[in-house]
Amino acid sequence: MSRKDDELRVMKIREGTVIDHISAGHSLTVFRMLGLSSEETNVISILMNVPSKKLGMKDILKIESRELNPSEVDKIALIAPHATINIIRDYRVVKKQRVKLPKVIRGPIKCTNSTCISNANEPITSTFMVVNEDPLCLRCHYCGRILSKENVLSQF
Ligand code: CTP
Ligand code: ZN
Repeated sequence: MSRKDDELRVMKIREGTVIDHISAGHSLTVFRMLGLSSEETNVISILMNVPSKKLGMKDILKIESRELNPSEVDKIALIAPHATINIIRDYRVVKKQRVKLPKVIRGPIKCTNSTCISNANEPITSTFMVVNEDPLCLRCHYCGRILSKENVLSQF
């Protein structure tokens, strides 16, 4: 591969957020978890299966002209525990942070128990306690139902 091809593949951005070190194959799930959609008007690059020294292969999501704040991004630790959030200004990384799974997760996941009160027509936000990070194990605050990583992934 020529140097030019390589540069094009991983083009630097001027301003925005780069979510790096996403476990390979999970960038689209991260995209949806962040509430991003085809309605976006800013430039978004999704890189999949990029060779990585640390992870073997990784995905990268670059969102231009938007700085995501850590609390909106931390939930992606559910599916991409090694991700780093890089805030870019004027082509430079001005902030780099590992995602950190909160102890309590409020939305956007739904309880898998259909009779759980958080699934009824009540103004209740689904809430889960993180019982274990790896392998992921969540417990519904309302009914006690245990959710695995698969239960979480299948919702996005
Ligand atoms: N990046 C970008 N545009 C910039 C600067 C950085 O898209 N103007 C991207 C890089 O391509 C990389 C990520 O942001 O995917 C982090 O950049 P940097 O900290 O320079 O890379 P590394 O040192 O390799 O990061 P780490 O130590 O987290 O692996
Ligand atoms: Zn429940």
